Amino acid sequence: MSGLEQRIQDAVRGQTQPTVTVLSSLLAVEDELGYIPKEAVEFVAGFSNATINDVWAVASFYPNFRFEPPAEHTVDVCWGASCHLVGAMSIFKSVLEVAGLDSEGDTLDKRLTVKFNSCLGACSQAPVMALDHHLAGRVNPESAAENVSRLLERDGHGP
Ligand code: FES
Repeated sequence: MSGLEQRIQDAVRGQTQPTVTVLSSLLAVEDELGYIPKEAVEFVAGFSNATINDVWAVASFYPNFRFEPPAEHTVDVCWGASCHLVGAMSIFKSVLEVAGLDSEGDTLDKRLTVKFNSCLGACSQAPVMALDHHLAGRVNPESAAENVSRLLERDGHGP
């Protein structure tokens, strides 16, 4: 068994909540790997007594699942109502500019994934962004851009 298959199986079998479903199993894999490889769809189907088509139907219904390995770093920009009201749009533009992207997605060198998030759970600190899942609140376009540059410089390369 490959290391990837082992991690998938451990994530799915390691669920401790009382009700284990196709969705909870996919979420466990996404938490472990940051994406849903096709091997996971196959394993979850067997594990849940579902067909591969059923599992794909669940996986593709939820926009937060990725089907490719994530980039090295992730930046989430909150797009929820509280953040929207205090300038999420300008934060998003500024982040895209530093990343060299036109819209959400991965940079070509796979060093950065930028995505919208509908609420990062820290509305009182709006506008909010998250850098590799660490929240940064009350950002402005300049500090947001600096945060992204710092994240990319951390391992010795510039943006
Ligand atoms: S709306 Fe942005 S953190 Fe909740």
